[in-house]
Amino acid sequence: MRHATFRQLRVFDAIVRNASFTRAAEEMHLSQPTLSVQVRKIGESVGQPLFEQIGKRIFLTEAGRALHVLCGEVFASIDRFEMAMADLKGMKTGRLRVAAVTTAEYFLPRLLGPFCNRHPGIDMALELVNRERALERLRANLDDFYVFGAPPSELDVVALPFVENPLVVVGPADHRLCAEREIDLARVAAEPILLREPGSGTRQAAERFFAAHGLKPRIRMELGSNEAIKQAVMGGLGLAILSRHALEGFSGVAELDVVGFPLRRQWYLVWPNGKQHSVAARALLDHLKADRPA
Ligand code: PGA
Repeated sequence: MRHATFRQLRVFDAIVRNASFTRAAEEMHLSQPTLSVQVRKIGESVGQPLFEQIGKRIFLTEAGRALHVLCGEVFASIDRFEMAMADLKGMKTGRLRVAAVTTAEYFLPRLLGPFCNRHPGIDMALELVNRERALERLRANLDDFYVFGAPPSELDVVALPFVENPLVVVGPADHRLCAEREIDLARVAAEPILLREPGSGTRQAAERFFAAHGLKPRIRMELGSNEAIKQAVMGGLGLAILSRHALEGFSGVAELDVVGFPLRRQWYLVWPNGKQHSVAARALLDHLKADRPA
């Protein structure tokens, strides 16, 4: 392994990310034969086969998976080193990766805008996925920060609440319940309900709230996005529970006055306990802490 070069690790990583020798060769500007030589050499250094090719698809062997974890660690250390050097020169530069649950799309880009403008040298990549996918990314340590509607209690993480996230019950603007006050939750549960896909944090919070009151909602339809739910509610398909952030600037649905709502939740900035933050990540943390309501 000591004889593997940094370049060979880059080539190996490109193959894994692209799941294709051809695409990796294109990305690395290498000819196929040169790429094959690099792959053979790194396989020899490791002393184990790294890939299995079944039909047209390539899979990592166990040794390949371990090497890919190592690649992630090596590249992250180099990134940190480069950012620290830039910091010594007084520049905040580098890459910042944030993975956030889908509903965060309604407020997070706006919140990050001023930070990006203040630090033009920092490239920000914002990945929007549902809660389950964000948890997978967190377990694989793929990003600098994660944004969740509830901190993952099953993982050893630091979670910093930074913005409120009220969940509300919405219905079509002409729904008979719109005119009522202090509606009982049981009456909501008796209506057709539209829920986000399994794996969504909003869905999880709504289901838990119904269950805590001994109720099981009548699920009319599952939809994979807040936007689709808003359209379906507007079309009269049922009621839904959504983050109030998702309703900003949208007049097609009405918020119902249901007892126990809004569900008071927070948005959390999360990272694995013990994670070594890059300079760019520390700058973002300072920015969000400064903006946080006391
Ligand atoms: P979701 O998460 O976008 O996956 O529903 C939001 C939340 O956890 O509040």
